[in-house]
Amino acid sequence: MRGKLAAGNWKMNGVAASLAEVESLVLSMGRPTCEVLLCPPATLIHRMSVVASGNIKIGGQDCHAKTTGAHTGDLSAAMLADAGASYVIVGHSERRQDHGETDAVVQSKASAAITEGLVAVICVGETLEDREAERTLDVIAAQLDGSVPDTATAATVVVAYEPVWAIGSGLTPTLEQIGEVHDFIRTNLNARLGTTEGDAIRLLYGGSVKPGNAAEIFAVSNVDGALVGGASLKAADFGPIVDALSNA
Ligand code: PGA
Repeated sequence: MRGKLAAGNWKMNGVAASLAEVESLVLSMGRPTCEVLLCPPATLIHRMSVVASGNIKIGGQDCHAKTTGAHTGDLSAAMLADAGASYVIVGHSERRQDHGETDAVVQSKASAAITEGLVAVICVGETLEDREAERTLDVIAAQLDGSVPDTATAATVVVAYEPVWAIGSGLTPTLEQIGEVHDFIRTNLNARLGTTEGDAIRLLYGGSVKPGNAAEIFAVSNVDGALVGGASLKAADFGPIVDALSNA
């Protein structure tokens, strides 16, 4: 039985006053049966971990592949862990696009995260152009092969399927399309890592998950949770998504 994970990605949103939302979330969500994770901007990791007081896991949104060094503006996985993070997102499509991150870069970041004891949430997903050209599964296969380290285990890696065209757009794939890609990812991980790890790695869907569509997405095969952007910023939105996953 895989655990379930409701993950929020705050992206470049949130200041100290936003921590009130985390307080509300902790109060409103009771005792969820799923794991809950929030990935705020790095400036809030420590303060959010204090407010979350163990009820919510905290993660970074990116890390450098090295532990220390002359890399102005970057943060290492060790630093995120030191600040209170237990997870880190790597290879989000916004990092791949805005910062030219390749699969090899993403893989080295995931490996660094694992070395420092963080769980790496590795993101993959096709563009609209890829989907229209019917190369979605080829793109996902290449991203998985290039981005997931050979050392990946169920304890160290989560894979998030995020179609680029569904992120922040209000558009979502059909449930059949989500199921097709999640089943494909499961088969790929099993073939690569063996069924013991491959079957146990949690797979998240991400891209315009909202309170209104969460339950139907969580009912799709091989969907073990969600990576939520916009709807993770407010307790009134993220709370019902956590509830939907708890009840799935
Ligand atoms: P969204 O973002 O929920 O706002 O579409 C998802 C993500 O980018 O992780």
